Amino acid sequence: MENYVHAIPTKLCFGKGVTDRLTEELGRFGKNVLLVYGGGSIKKTGLYDKLMKTLRDGGFTVFELGGVEPNPRIGTVRKGAEICRENAVDVVLAVGGGSTIDCSKAIAVGTFYDGDLWEMILNPKMGRKALPLVDIVTVSATGSEFDPIAVISNPETNEKFGAGLLYPAVSFCDPTLTFSVPPYHTASGSIDIMSHIMEDYFSETPDSDLSEGFAETVLKSVIQNLPIALKEPDNYSARANLMANASVACSGIPRYGKRHSGWPCHALEHELSAYYDITHGVGLAILTPHWMRFILKKDPSVRWRFVRFARNVWGLDGDDEDALALAGIDALERFFRESGVPMTLTELGIGSEHFVDMAKHADIRGRLTNAWVPLTTEDAVAVFTDCL
Ligand code: NZQ
Ligand code: ZN
Repeated sequence: MENYVHAIPTKLCFGKGVTDRLTEELGRFGKNVLLVYGGGSIKKTGLYDKLMKTLRDGGFTVFELGGVEPNPRIGTVRKGAEICRENAVDVVLAVGGGSTIDCSKAIAVGTFYDGDLWEMILNPKMGRKALPLVDIVTVSATGSEFDPIAVISNPETNEKFGAGLLYPAVSFCDPTLTFSVPPYHTASGSIDIMSHIMEDYFSETPDSDLSEGFAETVLKSVIQNLPIALKEPDNYSARANLMANASVACSGIPRYGKRHSGWPCHALEHELSAYYDITHGVGLAILTPHWMRFILKKDPSVRWRFVRFARNVWGLDGDDEDALALAGIDALERFFRESGVPMTLTELGIGSEHFVDMAKHADIRGRLTNAWVPLTTEDAVAVFTDCL
């Protein structure tokens, strides 16, 4: 078991009706609020009107930045930071999914950053001066509400980076706000939750019992609850379990005692969404089973981990460990497919033309060469090619 140090300063408020405490929490930081949201789902669901009334009744002055893109762009971050500077904003309120929360983290830090904001993403540092960030989560997926990462894209350079910048001060997680999430994003968000767990689960440390237990519990919970949420979008228990799993999955807690694995599927996926602007969870669904088969073939000494995955997560049985390892991967792939997301790059209109550049760039912070099973550029190209 490895050493670890961990501190999460975020106050996480979970459950039905928790946003009733919004003005109380926001008010601690001041009265000038930048409300950040995405492409309009909060207007369709009525959440926007409700929030605006609450904020106005509470005596807040609200500035707005709508239209944050899925895979949020650096240009939108710049716009938000400008609004904060010009209007002496006291606190940023993000309402949406990971894209909106990530963009808001970068805005909160970028408001005080002296220099180009893309440079800030490329050279991330915790503890920089920042506005406080409060968020209301509307889709269960990234766990951005309980981690310090802001994943920002630069379409001019085809780059997408996750920068450790800032923890939210307060996060509100009300599962009823996710009832309106369409099946595609319910599935892709759940796949992202599973991937956050699997990136650390598939690593070399064999003896962190707490970590193994967290990981297998979260995976089994998503496997149980995603199909229910897809059939019954307003099933509170299913939505609540997905939401609780999402916050913990990317929090670092399931990694306790484990050697960092480099998160190779995320490194590869961020290249796909940087070049093709695809949905993050869908990219992960396509990549993960192929990455698993690839590393199992490249280094059969990792088989024990896949056997454990098959037995403890999928409840599979058998004495032939080679067959069992592969059956666990097949079960995962089938589960993703049955959730309704595309399972090949070809379906997304993606060809092989950029694979070499993407493979090289994915390793820029050593995320592939330092992975549990290190991947060369050729290996990464082979994984992408298997996904066509
Ligand atoms: O933009 P709106 O109109 O709000 O619609 C969104 C968007 O189209 C919609 N949606 C959200 N809540 C809804 C809803 N539709 C109906 N009802 C609701 N209640 O869902 C779509 C997806 O939203 P988005 O925020 O893009 O999804 P997600 O939470 O999956 O965030 C994805 C981004 O986060 C990054 C990804 O790379 C991607 O850029 N990640 C962030 C991480 C982090 N901060 O720790 C880690 C992850 O690994 C990931 O990389
Ligand atoms: Zn992710």
